[in-house]
Amino acid sequence: MKQVVLVTGGAGYIGSHTVVELQNNGYDVVIVDNFSNSQPSVVENITKITGITPKFYNFDLSDEKACSDFFHQEHIDAIIHFAAYKYVGESVEQPLRYYKNNLYSTLNILTAMKEHNIKRLVFSSSCTVYGTPDVLPVVETTPVKPATCPYGNTKQIIEEILRDVCNEEQEYKVIALRYFNPIGAHPSALIGELPNGVPQNLIPYITQTAAGIREYLQVFGGDYNTPDGTCLRDYIHVVDLAKAHVSALNRMQDQSMEQNYEVFNIGTGKPSSVLDIIHAFEKVTGKALPYKIVSRRTGDVEKVWADTTKANQIMGWKAQLNMEEMLASAWNWEMKLKHAK
Ligand SMILES: NC(=O)c1ccc[n+]([C@@H]2O[C@H](COP(=O)([O-])OP(=O)(O)OC[C@H]3O[C@@H](n4cnc5c(N)ncnc54)[C@H](O)[C@@H]3O)[C@@H](O)[C@H]2O)c1
Repeated sequence: MKQVVLVTGGAGYIGSHTVVELQNNGYDVVIVDNFSNSQPSVVENITKITGITPKFYNFDLSDEKACSDFFHQEHIDAIIHFAAYKYVGESVEQPLRYYKNNLYSTLNILTAMKEHNIKRLVFSSSCTVYGTPDVLPVVETTPVKPATCPYGNTKQIIEEILRDVCNEEQEYKVIALRYFNPIGAHPSALIGELPNGVPQNLIPYITQTAAGIREYLQVFGGDYNTPDGTCLRDYIHVVDLAKAHVSALNRMQDQSMEQNYEVFNIGTGKPSSVLDIIHAFEKVTGKALPYKIVSRRTGDVEKVWADTTKANQIMGWKAQLNMEEMLASAWNWEMKLKHAK
């Protein structure tokens, strides 16, 4: 019988790409999303890509009763938990809103797992847990640094909760994936990142500038201790990231987990500077990108990239797509959005 996977936040950026990969790999998917940062059209577009309509529920996972009712209604074999608020700056302005949403949702899900005997969970963590690392690239045992914003703190707290729960529930299998910087869109250009207002992330800002929506790109800081003075990040194609979730589920299924709680870095292992990305984007699209180097932005980490050996060797997953593919797909998606308006 097909395994049923609950994808919380499945209408979101990474969730929607993961639903496509799960369906392509024979999983039945149930999505829960309240569209707080996504749109119903995403679910229709998933169906256009795979030919399969996922089951869908619209409710707030931080609502204890709604969450409990859902689990009484649906049989679930495993959970991939994406649903969360994710904007660093917003989390500084509205810490309680972030703690409530991200923590209550997770606690409600963990409670339901216990009640309904669901033993497998994949959690969306983040490279923000490493803060400004002392040694690069970061491995999974690199010390976690105190979080610099409430959003990052929710990821650290949830990782600790998961560790504690797994200590007690020996039959559980939980994998936290620490994502580096997902960019790009599905090759169909039917799903991609839908930024809310002025983009906080580099790539939507770049594509909106190239599309004429923004006047110029602001590069925050040109005086960092990096080869060209701009920040270094590990950008990963969202489709590669989505596939890591299928690998994580497979690992739980084939009984190969050595411990019942595992953590993996999910990146390419290759650092790129902001200027590298600008130049690569210009090369891929043939469009000149107006930009200005402005002062540093508070809270930005100078450089971080992943050592992905653990995910490559133990989970059998490796990023396949290169920077050109990431940027070309992001641009195609932006063009599609522009024409849809
Ligand atoms: N995008 C990144 O750069 C990045 C990096 C590291 C980690 N992450 C984590 O990955 C996960 C997914 O990120 P994303 O970029 O796809 O974000 P997203 O905002 O596009 O997707 C999250 C989805 O969850 C839904 N949601 C939020 N709170 C909910 C609630 N209480 N009940 C029901 N639905 C709810 C939103 O409507 C949205 O569709 C998040 O946990 C995020 O923190 C993202």
